[in-house]
Amino acid sequence: MAAQSQSRWQRAQVVDAELVADGVRRIVLEVEHPEHAAPGTHVDVALPAQDRQLIRSYSVVRSEDGGRRLTLSVQLSPTSRGGSQAVHALAVGDELTTTGPVQSFPLAVGAGRYVLVAGGIGITALVAMASALRRRGADYELVLVGRSRRVMAYLDELSAEHGDRLRVHVDDEATPLSVPGLVGEIAAAPNAATTELYMCGPIGLMDAIRSSWTEHALPQTNLRFETFGSSGRFDAEEFLVRLPQLDREVAVAADTSILDALNAAGVETLSDCRKGECGLCLAKVVEVEGTIDHRDVFLSDAQKQRCTNLCLCVSRAVAGYTGDHASVTLHLT
Ligand code: FES
Repeated sequence: MAAQSQSRWQRAQVVDAELVADGVRRIVLEVEHPEHAAPGTHVDVALPAQDRQLIRSYSVVRSEDGGRRLTLSVQLSPTSRGGSQAVHALAVGDELTTTGPVQSFPLAVGAGRYVLVAGGIGITALVAMASALRRRGADYELVLVGRSRRVMAYLDELSAEHGDRLRVHVDDEATPLSVPGLVGEIAAAPNAATTELYMCGPIGLMDAIRSSWTEHALPQTNLRFETFGSSGRFDAEEFLVRLPQLDREVAVAADTSILDALNAAGVETLSDCRKGECGLCLAKVVEVEGTIDHRDVFLSDAQKQRCTNLCLCVSRAVAGYTGDHASVTLHLT
């Protein structure tokens, strides 16, 4: 889902910062122009990083004092494109610029039942939503999926708030989520047609839910998601993009996207969401040496397998075990 509106940029100051799980830092910003942050909103933040400025989107976990204080939480990722390192380097008192709340993942009113599924740090997109559903007295379930409790942010808080409406699946406790089981339960319930599922997490989890949802012929409009340019199936590594139509070759470092690398090299491209949702940045794949790691939710599984297109903003190439850098030859449309 692309952002529906772009709020204005404003100054913000870090007023609190602490680790809330292994590798997850909670940052509280005090903003210049307070604005109510509804569940599902995010802010775009401009972050200083070495010789450049990065724009990254983060969910508003909590909005207090009429939207003056916004809480974000960011996981430090070894394969990040620079944004998470920059957030983890912020200290109380630091100033930065941010948009006001932007709505790209709205919570609908009136569903018969709500199922919220968060994988890892994806919980940040669903904390405010779950609280709103509890306050409304809605029929809802919050499903948390993670590798280990150590890295799962807000677990105790959510458990206290949602009680038995919270379901936790942890890999290192051998309680992984069965996606066919979860979606099968939804499909078999009498209110299946009015159940909405909201998800945010790794692309593999969201793809599995999407496939199962389609297999059960559940209404596609009842499946809603937030991606933030999800992590892929492979660790990010450097690779080469060849553009024969422009007679150019551009190296894409592990901490940047094809889109950013092309733009930095002066190659103009179309883009909008910059997180693999809208398809505006789609380019034709002419040839690949290595494997394409599709990280978008715009292309279908079949299209990803055919691999004739990729989303420049999130997808990458990896060499696998060959030892050489991967390369991908693209035709920009
Ligand atoms: S800019 Fe939207 S999918 Fe790439």
